[in-house]
Amino acid sequence: MNKKISLSSPHMGGSEFLFLKNAFDSNWIAPLGPHVDGFEKDLATYLGNGVHVAALSSGTASLHLALVILGVKQNDEVICQSLTFSASANPIMYQGATPVFVDSESQTWNMSPDLLEIAIKDRLSKGKKPKAIIVVHLYGMPAEMDRIMEVSRKYQIPVIEDAAEALGSTYKGRKLGTFGDMAILSFNGNKIITTSGGGALVSKNEDWIIKSRFLATQARDIAPHYQHSQVGYNYRMSNICASIGRGQMEVLPLRIYQRRKNFTHYTRLLSNISNIQFQIEPDDTFFSNHWLSAITLEDEEGKITNDMMRLALAEDNIEVRPVWKPMHMQPVFSEFPFYGDGTAEHLFKVGLCLPSGSNLTEYEIRMVISKIKNCFSTSIV
Ligand SMILES: Cc1ncc(COP(=O)(O)O)c(C=O)c1O
Repeated sequence: MNKKISLSSPHMGGSEFLFLKNAFDSNWIAPLGPHVDGFEKDLATYLGNGVHVAALSSGTASLHLALVILGVKQNDEVICQSLTFSASANPIMYQGATPVFVDSESQTWNMSPDLLEIAIKDRLSKGKKPKAIIVVHLYGMPAEMDRIMEVSRKYQIPVIEDAAEALGSTYKGRKLGTFGDMAILSFNGNKIITTSGGGALVSKNEDWIIKSRFLATQARDIAPHYQHSQVGYNYRMSNICASIGRGQMEVLPLRIYQRRKNFTHYTRLLSNISNIQFQIEPDDTFFSNHWLSAITLEDEEGKITNDMMRLALAEDNIEVRPVWKPMHMQPVFSEFPFYGDGTAEHLFKVGLCLPSGSNLTEYEIRMVISKIKNCFSTSIV
């Protein structure tokens, strides 16, 4: 059996260990410390545009606190992109609120601004004004942020960007995570940079970021004893994880280059297979970090399905994954409103994510490509 070719595995740069050693040497083994502060500063500087950052325990925790800070409560409604990972929607449930799912448009695979507006109008007509819009930058591809923000402003509904997969991507030259009222990032082990597990809340509103740090450390009031006037959470990032993050920040530009290079290889070497289409940047105002290289298999005769290809590659120990199953199709969310035109369902049916790690070798990429080509040649025979 070949060595496993993973979808996306951690890729250390080298200096992570020095930061980690420093944390040990100084005995900052806690959910606070100089590396947490340093990592927040590194991220804020990198994203620019006057944002502030709170380093937290996960992307999911960050999204949960974003909803808490926006005052999302029981029976409120929150609009969420349907084509995403369940972590985009779960925090809506933590608050006892109702998710309202919106379909994608076929260019970026992200939330359709037209369907977003249709959904808002319909919710308003039912006497329910959504409390927030969660838009996702899937696999690193920027959503149509100008149009999403236009709708948000028109109806005065705040936007939370789920940029868990999109650190380093830009739209019109500006980093994702700096468009919405708030944004979240993830540093889970499979992301473009990792802290093993971790996340961040991002906002230009410094008060919100200060509040998120307070809520993330059990909402302790200023008092010599333990006093609490609000419900708190244990959501802060540890100094150990942040030390890894500081090392990873040094190689982030290289990681973006490497993931984009994977994508270029795939598009170039699979260009002669007309059934394969890619999740491409619609024009040069979109810049994706290509966290994952995603394809669709548009085979009208149904000779090759995404599942057949997934299983064929698995035989050679190559990990490929279906595109996220849309939230409105998930048993846990099926009872909630959905505004769609079939785009996400189609992408789920024909989509596949290819091995995309920044640590893939040229040989491994070529092997994946040859196995994909092989699927087509054997299906023709
Ligand atoms: C789109 C999306 N949103 C949210 C998350 C949640 O991030 P975390 O795993 O850090 O909680 C992830 C990744 O896991 C994700 O891919």
